[in-house]
Amino acid sequence: MELKITCIPGDGIGPEIVAEAKKVLDAVAVKYGHQMNYTDILMGGASIDAYGVPLTEEAVQTAKSADAVLMGSIGGDTTTSPWYKLPPNLRPEAGLLAIRKALNLFANLRPAVLYEELAGACPLKEEISAAGFDMLIMRELTGGLYFGERKTVEENGVRKAIDTLTYDENEIRRIAVKGFEIAMKRKKKVTSVDKANVLDSSRLWRNVVEEVAKDYPDVTLEHMLVDNCAMQLVKDPAQFDVILTENMFGDILSDEASMVTGSIGMLASASLNDTRFGLYEPSHGSAPDIAGKDIANPIATILSSSMMLRYSFDLDEEADAIDNAVKQVLKEGYRTADIMSEGCTKVGCKQMGDLLAQKIG
Ligand code: IPM
Ligand code: MG
Repeated sequence: MELKITCIPGDGIGPEIVAEAKKVLDAVAVKYGHQMNYTDILMGGASIDAYGVPLTEEAVQTAKSADAVLMGSIGGDTTTSPWYKLPPNLRPEAGLLAIRKALNLFANLRPAVLYEELAGACPLKEEISAAGFDMLIMRELTGGLYFGERKTVEENGVRKAIDTLTYDENEIRRIAVKGFEIAMKRKKKVTSVDKANVLDSSRLWRNVVEEVAKDYPDVTLEHMLVDNCAMQLVKDPAQFDVILTENMFGDILSDEASMVTGSIGMLASASLNDTRFGLYEPSHGSAPDIAGKDIANPIATILSSSMMLRYSFDLDEEADAIDNAVKQVLKEGYRTADIMSEGCTKVGCKQMGDLLAQKIG
């Protein structure tokens, strides 16, 4: 089949890691008889440099005309890059928020898995990490605090900033449904995370999640307050299957969960709307300090491309081939610098891509 994919190489290590993902996708295309039809667009700092804005309407239209979007990473060093001297709505991150909204990508799936081969990288005590873990954070991505009205005013010489956190029941229901649906394909447990002891938006969240749960009697639902969840993630991560939560809580908890794996360079993500369309990106950032040195780990982006094959194109066999290639290459002891350990073979970004592409072919 023909796969129409819009690529956003982006900033920092983005272009290098997307190039390796394309290499692996091309190997999949040859092996399974598909055609990859890529179109690149600019977003973030690269778009600011070219057009003065972090995302153009034309880029959004190109993304919309594809079946899926594969992204590297955007943004630069916030203390030194000139992009961060611009007003907030013109900075690189604004492009990412804008494309999520424009494409209605309300469901953000962030798996955090402890790979057996990389268990040594887990920063938790061995008695905790020994249980392993495999969780998926289902983060609401187009509502809440990040998309509410905001302003900064001055009242009687005192500066005051206001952000608003709004959710309506439809926004909560659609993400809850996605959470339960994915739990059905996993260990059938949903932990809904909120701050219902304080926030009205959380109390509505809890009520709507309870309503949705009635349609999924096979799924165990539990509620957890976000502060407790932050603690439980380091105390007993094995207890989690699907963590269902709102935008800001999911932003924070997904960083914590990825840190707990000890290998953020391995973690993929998918942002989906109501159709099969999705945007796929690594969970890590643009790492400007190591950009262009051929030392970045491309695996998170490569695994994101596997999620793309699975969720947007229904190509499970092809996606499995990528996931297995990653496991195989790790088993053979190849490591990029970020996950290097004694006795292993250190490889660069390009070589990691080559090894994975060879395994497919
Ligand atoms: C993420 C990032 C973004 C977010 C930023 C860059 C706007 O932290 O994808 O988690 O908060 O959503
Ligand atoms: Mg984040």
